[in-house]
Amino acid sequence: ASKYRAFPQVKLTDRQWPDNAITKPPIWMSTDLRDGNQALIEPMSAEKKLRFFEMLVQIGLKEIEVGFPSASQTDFDFVRKLVEENRIPDDVTIIVLTQSRDELIRRTVASAAGARRAIVHLYNSVAPVFRKVVFGMSREEITQIATSGTTLVKQLVAQHPETEWGFEYTPESFSTTELDFSKHICDAVSAIWKPTPHNKMIVNLPSTVECSTPNVYADQIEWMSRKLARRDSLIISVHPHNDRGTAVASAELAVMAGADRVEGCLFGNGERTGNVDLVTLAMNLYTQGVHPGLDFSDIDSVRKCVEECNQLPVHPRHPYAGDLVFTAFSGSHQDAIKKGFAQQQPGALWEVPYLPIDPADMGRSYDAVIRVNSQSGKGGMAYLLEQEYGLVLPRRLQIEFSRAVQAVADASGREIAATEIHDIFSREYFEQ
Ligand code: KIV
Ligand code: ZN
Repeated sequence: ASKYRAFPQVKLTDRQWPDNAITKPPIWMSTDLRDGNQALIEPMSAEKKLRFFEMLVQIGLKEIEVGFPSASQTDFDFVRKLVEENRIPDDVTIIVLTQSRDELIRRTVASAAGARRAIVHLYNSVAPVFRKVVFGMSREEITQIATSGTTLVKQLVAQHPETEWGFEYTPESFSTTELDFSKHICDAVSAIWKPTPHNKMIVNLPSTVECSTPNVYADQIEWMSRKLARRDSLIISVHPHNDRGTAVASAELAVMAGADRVEGCLFGNGERTGNVDLVTLAMNLYTQGVHPGLDFSDIDSVRKCVEECNQLPVHPRHPYAGDLVFTAFSGSHQDAIKKGFAQQQPGALWEVPYLPIDPADMGRSYDAVIRVNSQSGKGGMAYLLEQEYGLVLPRRLQIEFSRAVQAVADASGREIAATEIHDIFSREYFEQ
């Protein structure tokens, strides 16, 4: 049983409650090594990709998009290395992306042939602006690109029966495309692939550029989920980007609206403002009592690996993982947190104010929670003296001593570490 519970715990409306909630995790797909990688200033070397891949496996990802092999020799060689050196665990499926062009499809299938399980991910752009401005093509010509690509993938994978092949189709720029056309093209593709309830096909519906409020995207997903042909043979996937800063909300609402699967990157790497952040999504589920099936119990080592491979820092205020998210400077917050920790019983529901999650669940420590600067009251410094030095200060002394610490913090304008607080304490009370 989880020590977390879903919010809100009050009834908001007279309708059936809760109106909607995510009660089981979606299928997760990491596109760190593809969408994430293609957006890096310096794309990852094969060594970094392998390190990242192994970390994703460790976390529990079962679907990993490993590259765009027809677009990059590094990616092609990396996929071959994974296959030939048997680096892919039996329960992990690799995904290889391709545009819908014959020679690119051939190279993509060749890259993954021999893997135990692989998904060919075919995409073409379908939105009016692409049809008009980029390709100068009609709806039917765009549909023809998708269906002829699907036909070729089907023929080619049949030549490699040693691999268990899956198929994913993305109508790129879905969220800015007319819904009837998105349905038409996805139905045309699935009519060729012929998925079954036991051998489903993935239909991935991206907000390639996020351009609406999350409820609109969710409505689009719901419409597709209700209208697509062969729905029981499809896995509906979402791939939200973060251009409006609402990718996490978009993914959560989309799952409530019928999506089965989410594609994203750790800490929200990816094109422009990034893909949806899988860490935040997973931990949001965890803190409402639904285990995400991904293991972030040592978040610092995951973060270190991602920062080193991507050469991008994780923001100090990044949900769940930033340096400052289990920290309180303000006196009233510190006091409430301190009381919460003191009363929290092992295994009981989590009831520490201001902290949505037990830092220990992410491998972070309680000690880092309380920090002291000029905004802090007596509680923080008393807590640190007790935790670090076993010094329990009576309340009157706390009030008096906090003035001495605040004077130092005000004068320096900096944070005051536990050692410095102890030095001030010694100076004030033992060295006179
Ligand atoms: O954002 C997007 O539409 C994509 C597709 C190629 C899946 O990355
Ligand atoms: Zn993308």
